[in-house]
Amino acid sequence: MEKDLKIDNEKDYEVVKNDKRSKVIYNPKNKKYKKCFYPKFSKRIKWFFKMGRYPGHNFKYISDVLNTVGIKTVNITDFNKYEVTTQALPGKPLAEVLKESNTKKAKMCLGKYINLIKKLIDNRIYFADYTCNNFFMFDGEIYALDLEDYRKDCLFNFRKKKMLKKMQSKIKTIPKECLEKINITHNDILKEILDN
Ligand SMILES: Nc1ncnc2c1ncn2[C@@H]1O[C@H](COP(=O)(O)OP(=O)(O)O)[C@@H](O)[C@H]1O
Ligand SMILES: [Mg+2]
Repeated sequence: MEKDLKIDNEKDYEVVKNDKRSKVIYNPKNKKYKKCFYPKFSKRIKWFFKMGRYPGHNFKYISDVLNTVGIKTVNITDFNKYEVTTQALPGKPLAEVLKESNTKKAKMCLGKYINLIKKLIDNRIYFADYTCNNFFMFDGEIYALDLEDYRKDCLFNFRKKKMLKKMQSKIKTIPKECLEKINITHNDILKEILDN
């Protein structure tokens, strides 16, 4: 992938979040987000010996996999083992959209979110953090943005139980205001996802 030729100086970035294992920074000059990973030494060693993908490489790999099955993702402009640069997504986080939309739009957005989760399960793609803030809505379409922890490999069957359990707790991040508007419960959504 071509290196970004625009000025990309760390001092132009604003810190969005910074914790022990990762940092997200934003450059308003070129409207790019950079995510940096600081994994444990034991993980670095594992990846060095080709057991699993480096987080930056996995981010790119998963983006391609999701696009192939028809799920839109952030646009990656640069990546390496421990860093990914993405174009700022226009639009808003799903949680915000669900809170402030009228009933018709909230139903449409929730439908897109449910379909996305079903599609991941159908395509045997593991993901656990379905927090509404990990998805953006733009122009009536849903986008996935936090991609390093998705997995597409032969271990799906082993991970499925854990995935569904975590999903149940993350579904609770759908804002209550939204569900009241539509007159459904978190359990109705779970049922819809799991009933095939
Ligand atoms: N390309 C992007 N476009 C718009 N917002 C982004 C982008 N990348 C990150 N963000 C913002 O930064 C937040 C944190 O990024 P994320 O990748 O979800 O990190 P974390 O692993 O800490 O959840 C997101 O919830 C989103 O608000
Ligand atoms: Mg996130």
